[in-house]
Amino acid sequence: MAETMLDLRHAPKDRAYAQLHAYAVQVLAGIDDDIAGMATITSLVHHAFGHLWTGFYRVVRPDLLRVGPYQGTLGCLDIEFGRGVCGVAAAERRSIAVPDVSRFPGHITCDARARSEIVIPVFDAAQSLIAVFDIDSTKTAAFDQLDVDGLERLLTWFSGDGRG
Ligand code: SME
Repeated sequence: MAETMLDLRHAPKDRAYAQLHAYAVQVLAGIDDDIAGMATITSLVHHAFGHLWTGFYRVVRPDLLRVGPYQGTLGCLDIEFGRGVCGVAAAERRSIAVPDVSRFPGHITCDARARSEIVIPVFDAAQSLIAVFDIDSTKTAAFDQLDVDGLERLLTWFSGDGRG
């Protein structure tokens, strides 16, 4: 089946995320595999919005994130809990939108073109943290509460919504 890539750069965010969520559930129908889900969601989100960097950091030890499926330039491989936006989001199990990364203490620069960033924690059905989803933009203040809400909903795929 030839899949179509969505282009949602000009759609209102709430509608864009609703469409993306429905499409991700459809594309992933019958799949029960975290890596396949991460790779597919990364591709859909990255190309729908034209982000700079989009991808997952997986929890590989209680205190360590390791890069997972992503699109963009080389991401750093390991991030300790508490370090950078990803590590803080993981340690505190909460979504963080950073309007200006130069003002976030300890921000880890992987691509110097990044101006703003959003990180969303990813939970499994038992509410264990399995990863964080990280997006970088070349625009300042690219992400707001609509992105937090839309991405949190999309990432419920990993806790069972629409899965398998
Ligand atoms: N900026 C992130 C590091 C990961 S890269 O953006 C891909 C951070 O501060 O956690």
